[in-house]
Amino acid sequence: MKTFICEICGDAYLGEDKPASCPFCGARSAFIKEGKEANPVVNVKENLSDISKKNLHETLELEMQANAIYTCMAGKAATYEISKMYKRLAKIELEHAIICTKLLGIEMLPAGSELCSDADAENFQKTIELENHASSLYSEFAKTSTEKHIKILFTALNQAEMDHIDLIKNYLN
Ligand SMILES: [Fe+2]
Ligand SMILES: [Fe+2]
Repeated sequence: MKTFICEICGDAYLGEDKPASCPFCGARSAFIKEGKEANPVVNVKENLSDISKKNLHETLELEMQANAIYTCMAGKAATYEISKMYKRLAKIELEHAIICTKLLGIEMLPAGSELCSDADAENFQKTIELENHASSLYSEFAKTSTEKHIKILFTALNQAEMDHIDLIKNYLN
């Protein structure tokens, strides 16, 4: 086994080969490096511009909200598989929120609570809407943020949220 480190969330993955995406934050494999080569964005100590701070604060709010919604959906899911899938999505969104707090140097927000449907089909539609919104916002944030590491972060988050749409599409019809 080897130690791989995600350059987005900074978490280590222990295994033979690097995974197709980070199990913790969903960043694609291009962002996962062998241990000594990794230089995670969360470790960059740089003063952030006002626009980058605004983008990170907005992301933090959105990710905490997504965490609460997916936790609700996990509780309502009709099958064990769908429940576990939403629990993992909730954890990934929480990881995105934690990345924001590390970069902003602030405390984590308390977890909120959100409503969701009793029907998986409606929750799938809602999930696609949320992920579409998040991914397009992050593609904009990748452009407007001024520091290189923040641009990299938002590029990775944009892709991770797009991959969530693919995941949900597998459950439709
Ligand atoms: Fe990660
Ligand atoms: Fe997210």
